[in-house]
Amino acid sequence: MCGIFGVVSSNAVTGTLLSGLQKLEYRGYDSAGLSVITNNNVIKRIRCSGKVSDLRSLVKKSNLTGRCGIAHTRWATHGVPSTKNSHPHSSGIISIVHNGIIENYDELKSKLKKQRYKFLSDTDSEVIAHLIHSFLSKKKTYFDAVVAALKTLKGSYALGILNEKNPDTLIAASHGSPLLLGISRNENFISSDVNAVLSKTKKYISMDDSEIAVLNKSEVNIFGLNGRKIKKPVSTSIQKGNSINKAGYNHYMQKEIYEQKNIIKNTINDKVGSTRILPNVFGPQSDSMLKSIKHIHFVACGTSFNAALVAKNWIEEVSNISCVAEIASEFRHRKVNVLKDTLYVAISQSGETADTIYSTKKAAALGYKKILSICNVPESSLTRLSDYTFLTHAGPEISVASTKAFTSQLISLLLLVCILSRSSGKKIEPTIVKQMKTLPKILTKVFSLEKEMQQIAKHFTNKHHTLFLGRGASYPIALEAALKLKEISYIHAEGYAAGELKHGPLALVDKDMPVIGLMPENNLVDQVLSNLAEVKARQGLVYIFTNKKLKFKRGDKTHLVSMPSCGHFIAPLVYVIPMQLLAYHVAVKKKTNIDQPRNLAKSVTVE
Ligand code: F6R
Repeated sequence: MCGIFGVVSSNAVTGTLLSGLQKLEYRGYDSAGLSVITNNNVIKRIRCSGKVSDLRSLVKKSNLTGRCGIAHTRWATHGVPSTKNSHPHSSGIISIVHNGIIENYDELKSKLKKQRYKFLSDTDSEVIAHLIHSFLSKKKTYFDAVVAALKTLKGSYALGILNEKNPDTLIAASHGSPLLLGISRNENFISSDVNAVLSKTKKYISMDDSEIAVLNKSEVNIFGLNGRKIKKPVSTSIQKGNSINKAGYNHYMQKEIYEQKNIIKNTINDKVGSTRILPNVFGPQSDSMLKSIKHIHFVACGTSFNAALVAKNWIEEVSNISCVAEIASEFRHRKVNVLKDTLYVAISQSGETADTIYSTKKAAALGYKKILSICNVPESSLTRLSDYTFLTHAGPEISVASTKAFTSQLISLLLLVCILSRSSGKKIEPTIVKQMKTLPKILTKVFSLEKEMQQIAKHFTNKHHTLFLGRGASYPIALEAALKLKEISYIHAEGYAAGELKHGPLALVDKDMPVIGLMPENNLVDQVLSNLAEVKARQGLVYIFTNKKLKFKRGDKTHLVSMPSCGHFIAPLVYVIPMQLLAYHVAVKKKTNIDQPRNLAKSVTVE
């Protein structure tokens, strides 16, 4: 899941390459590099481990200039982050950048070594450069050599390719990894994401599997691997491409946590009437399609999967629809039995997560009634695969740890829940709508807890483990709380269904183990309280987040956080926010790289 950017132009491209790459840094940030064909028709390459800003400093010192170039920001799969493993990779006159995984690279490497090719990196990508070079030396044309190499590869790739002997041409190819072509006057681009070209052009063509594109400054031609030209529509992006900044906050994560109130408010204002959700908010004729649904299969990863788990709880509570939530990396590889009238719902912030995309492609062939996606990025791969798309309109999420994407997914799913509740005859929709409308006020009260979270965060900085417990729809919030804490503070954390504690994890509890109970006032409070009593009996440190009036004796070693009262259906949205704030302040105290935690990337475009 790396970022690829390239440009062929009538102007100097180095600055454009760096600013395009900067916008793709969320896809990987452990090393970066670029290759430019200079005005003397030689490829010059600059690479480093580190960020795009490190590459920028190196480029500044180099006086590198030319009118055709490729650039890459890396998230390591094969080989540690280092200069030698950074892209572009070269083979004589060829230089390439690659996103994806080449599954047969070992076998190809052995064959190429026999042809005396020397491998200078530990990556799978380097074989691609040598392969193209080896086909060129067999007297194939440049285009045919690239096609022959692509036909030899197994796995996924988005590629940008330069050849010194064709200094005005940039070749791109895609298979199972996103890539698009930005179309402009006197310059054309390749990019992993439309955002990176928006400052130059809004016109773009999305590449599909097994396609190869040949770009020069005034023309873009797309071909199949059979060499036949393919006519593809040029899309115009509806995205604004504004420059994004922290707006005075210390981190993007903090800013995005605070954006949640307005995002939720806007969704409610746009989609909710006085007692009902407005007609067809999930797309044309979506209300009648949803009326006929008997089962739902949610598929997602990470935080988006946690949102699916909350939705499963809600849907089964208010309707007779049966619901399954499944991790995409599992779904994509197993045999799936699809019942009649099942709706497949993919949830994804980016719309580019490889496992979710593969799962959705698989779903399209499996006989689901329809495919609905809940996604934050318009024009993403996921939206293109879906019959219906609901855009969460959370705005670009820059912090790797997802916050506003999660709550915007939850509020979108709550709209879905309302619509699905109609066929049960329970008439619960006005109650849910009423609760939704209280959210902006309640969230203001929740944000006033930030100081308290800052205080509590001090208790966690020297801890190595934390447990989060919840029942019902609070169980996925416990999972989400644990995910946030571990990914940005590097404290090992687990979320558990509170009732599972005594089936194993209780063995971990001792005086150094903080255990956080999420306990919105509902019919499960007493059960969670008895689970927490079991923790206290083993000297565990208990933190309770609840709006129930509870009293504890002095010296009871229980930290009580009083949450504002809230309706049952909106509790997951209310209770997740102090968890985000807590994780954030623990990470601030631990001085970690909050917006770009180690080993992670924002968009997971490899399996
Ligand atoms: C965690 C986080 C990840 C993503 C996951 C799926 O904070 O951000 O777990 O939720 O990688 O990403 P999307 O939603 O883009 O499919």
